[in-house]
Amino acid sequence: MKIRLKIIKIDTIIMEITKICCIGAGYVGGPTMAIIAQKCPHIKVTVVDLNAERIAAWNDPNVDNIPIYEPGLSEIVAESRNRNLFFSTDVESAIDEAEMIFISVNTPTKTYGAGKGMASDLKYIELCARQIAKVAKNDKIVVEKSTLPVRTAEAVKSILDNTGNGVKFQILSNPEFLAEGTAVSDLLNPDRVLIGGDPSEEGQIAIQKLVAIYSKWVPSQQILTTNLWSSELSKLTANAFLAQRISSINAMSELCEKTGADINEVARAIGMDSRIGPKFLKASVGFGGSCFQKDILNLVYIAKSFGLNEVADYWEQVIIMNDHQKDRFAKNIITTLYNTISGKKIAFLGWAFKKDTNDTRESAAIYVADYLLKEEANIAVYDPKVSENKILADLDYLESRKPELNRKGIESFDDSYSACKNAHAIAILTEWDEFNTYDWQKIYDNMEKPAFVFDGRNILDRKKLTEIGFIYQCIGS
Ligand code: UDX
Ligand code: UDX
Repeated sequence: MKIRLKIIKIDTIIMEITKICCIGAGYVGGPTMAIIAQKCPHIKVTVVDLNAERIAAWNDPNVDNIPIYEPGLSEIVAESRNRNLFFSTDVESAIDEAEMIFISVNTPTKTYGAGKGMASDLKYIELCARQIAKVAKNDKIVVEKSTLPVRTAEAVKSILDNTGNGVKFQILSNPEFLAEGTAVSDLLNPDRVLIGGDPSEEGQIAIQKLVAIYSKWVPSQQILTTNLWSSELSKLTANAFLAQRISSINAMSELCEKTGADINEVARAIGMDSRIGPKFLKASVGFGGSCFQKDILNLVYIAKSFGLNEVADYWEQVIIMNDHQKDRFAKNIITTLYNTISGKKIAFLGWAFKKDTNDTRESAAIYVADYLLKEEANIAVYDPKVSENKILADLDYLESRKPELNRKGIESFDDSYSACKNAHAIAILTEWDEFNTYDWQKIYDNMEKPAFVFDGRNILDRKKLTEIGFIYQCIGS
């Protein structure tokens, strides 16, 4: 369906927003609102969440204890908290007083019913829409921040318009492109801000109100406005393209291992072609994170639901390749360790899905650990930001075995040297910078021999490690 955007001249003086509410104090809602509050001191920003523990952590007097680790975030929260940035569990009051409401709740892949394992579960979005409809007494702009299937705005609008009390709502789509670990700099210097809205005059006014907020720190040429559906689909498309680059380079990494080519050299050679570009070409044990897999599965589901099977199969292959990469990394550890790892200690350096975050959602480490636990390995984990409870919860969630067996097979350590002591092998699962600063001779001296390193991130110095005596294997060479 084609939607023509009318060019509307807006003569109305646009009243600036003074009160914002954000539902969802997670990895997206928390940092995004902290930056808006910092850059717009005239706006009162209230972030609400059903999870009282999470809100209490955001309000912890010691800002180092906020629930999300992002470089630079604690300082920004300290600057605005209780000035014009508030964290609360009182969802209804915050909705009532806000002129603009961001929905930033999670949209996990469905675990039941139609679309199970593929479609996005929109029950939290719908709950938010119903709550807004119930509470609102004056006109509101509702902004979709969560990544959503195309045309979700239509469902949200239908709920708001039909269960409301004569209040007028405008729906905007304003997808987030921040990457974890660099959320603060991505928010401060975004490549672009995307705002989708209705082509009507009211829709265009709502867009301008949100543009006015971002204009406080983002140059106007980087603020793109589109129709709602283009905005929703652009977010899915951006994540699909990024993930596809990783699966493409990982596919070539396997071929490199067979042919004697080196994936780092291949990536460098192709990345210098300005049409390809150098970013997102790092071969790895596989991508993780809350977005890539979920968004591609969602795209596949949408394509299938329109009968576009070739489109669906094309994108599904990105996930199939990623699963294969995690599997083959785990299998290679087993075959290299003489086809048996039962009772052997294997040290995991890193558990987070990438460096500089405490987020572990869909981390490759979880799947590699699960594979090795099936072979009865003893896994010793060290991650500078992830707790043992989180590691065990991640494994329990897979339901591959009884929780007590996960506790038997996994132990977490506060430092790498203890984690690696008496280990048969080390697997690098996250690219934390500190791994390169270690005394690798000391680690080697305390390991079983031969001592193996499986570098799933290609970050260690092969020459140095092999000179010490390690048998070193990495991805794609
Ligand atoms: C989420 C989505 O997963 C992602 O698709 C989207 O792009 C942005 O929002 P994230 O912020 O990383 O990402 O999720 P999460 O850290 O799980 O935070 C969501 C928060 O919403 C949680 O703290 C949860 O308690 C809260 N929530 C959820 C509510 O307050 N109300 C609800 O009804 C559901
Ligand atoms: C991603 C998108 O980058 C961001 O724009 C969107 O808003 C949310 O999803 P995020 O998942 O936080 O962000 O991190 P990202 O840096 O994209 O990394 C995702 C995964 O890909 C990580 O596991 C990372 O280690 C892996 N990766 C990334 C590679 O394996 N190789 C690369 O070259 C780049």
